[in-house]
Amino acid sequence: MRQKQVIGILTWREGQRFSEPDYLRRLVKAGWKLGAEVYLFSHQDVNTKERKIKGFTPKAGGGWESKWFPWPEVVIDRYRRRVPQYMRLRHSGLFDFANSPFSKKWRVTKLLAEDQRVSRWVPETHVYKKGKVMAMLRRHPLLYIKPGNGTGGRSILKVAAVGKQYQLQGRDKQYGKHNIRVENAVAVENWVKRWVTKQRISDGNFLVQQGLDLALIPNRVADVRLLIQKNEEGVWDVTGCAVRMGTSGSATSNLHGGGKAISFPQFMVKRFGEESAPRIQRECHTMAHQIAQTLEEKFGRMMEFGLDIGVDVSGRAWLIEVNPKPGREVFRQMGDRKTYELAIERPIQFALQLAKAGSGKQEKQRKEVV
Ligand SMILES: Nc1ncnc2c1ncn2[C@@H]1O[C@H](COP(=O)(O)OP(=O)(O)O)[C@@H](O)[C@H]1O
Ligand SMILES: [Mg+2]
Repeated sequence: MRQKQVIGILTWREGQRFSEPDYLRRLVKAGWKLGAEVYLFSHQDVNTKERKIKGFTPKAGGGWESKWFPWPEVVIDRYRRRVPQYMRLRHSGLFDFANSPFSKKWRVTKLLAEDQRVSRWVPETHVYKKGKVMAMLRRHPLLYIKPGNGTGGRSILKVAAVGKQYQLQGRDKQYGKHNIRVENAVAVENWVKRWVTKQRISDGNFLVQQGLDLALIPNRVADVRLLIQKNEEGVWDVTGCAVRMGTSGSATSNLHGGGKAISFPQFMVKRFGEESAPRIQRECHTMAHQIAQTLEEKFGRMMEFGLDIGVDVSGRAWLIEVNPKPGREVFRQMGDRKTYELAIERPIQFALQLAKAGSGKQEKQRKEVV
């Protein structure tokens, strides 16, 4: 009988506390269903000398069970904190990862803005420095100032021209709401200077970005969450697409901020009509494929991306953000079970396919040749 493929999932844990326990529980179970040996592990669980790992699996009825497992043939990296122990392990060459390490938001945005294949979807973006805000206000009536490393909607500031004045709106680190009006661009520049100093996150630049008018519903922000993944043949495919709607009066649509998820086609038909909706959908899919391909060329093998896409009031699609370790809860929230289940199966299918092809050996050979 052929042996089971062994897939490890690298994640943060403290005691029996995992980040995203619900998703990871489902991921392991999806792997079992597909006939693989799957377990979770964190940086502290690796015994390099004996080449074995103290892995974790879900117990029936809740909780986790831990035991020694054989070395994984392929590892899915789901670690979302950049702690040194993780970084060391990630770059140690000990594992064959299904997904390559990725860069921070501002680097990725810069890279995409400079690539002709995809630049048309990227709003004008600069790393924050003195004078940038005023310069950008001369070019755009709406700006977003946001941390260059992602924060789930925190520390993001929206600046909108209102007549000769400017409205500033955002949430700080503690989710505290700010909403003020200032007289002129100089005042905006000064306010933003204080904001980036106060909000500064240890390793982060801030970005000054052309703002998109996403008020597809009055007084609300709506944007699109698209999940593109490698399918069981290793080919990029859009798994699903949803619309996220922010709470009334909020500058962002993030679900943590209390937004909700709704069906993409239904929403687009209602807002832009039967004729335009399929065009917008095609545009989002084309964007996703081009971006996945471009990023994979730059960063090495990837497995999935979550794209935050803004469809502005004129129906034009823009890239807001690329998430290399995306959530998939939007599909569940929207009640689309089938897409949700597929979104969980696909990473495992891809890892399995790599394991069967002995991808580790191939990757190493390729690196030695280069
Ligand atoms: N340039 C922009 N124009 C309009 N809305 C934006 C822009 N940038 C961000 N947003 C809003 O803020 C949200 C969060 O921004 P994002 O860049 O995705 O950061 P995070 O890492 O916090 O998710 C987006 O989902 C969108 O609703
Ligand atoms: Mg985002």
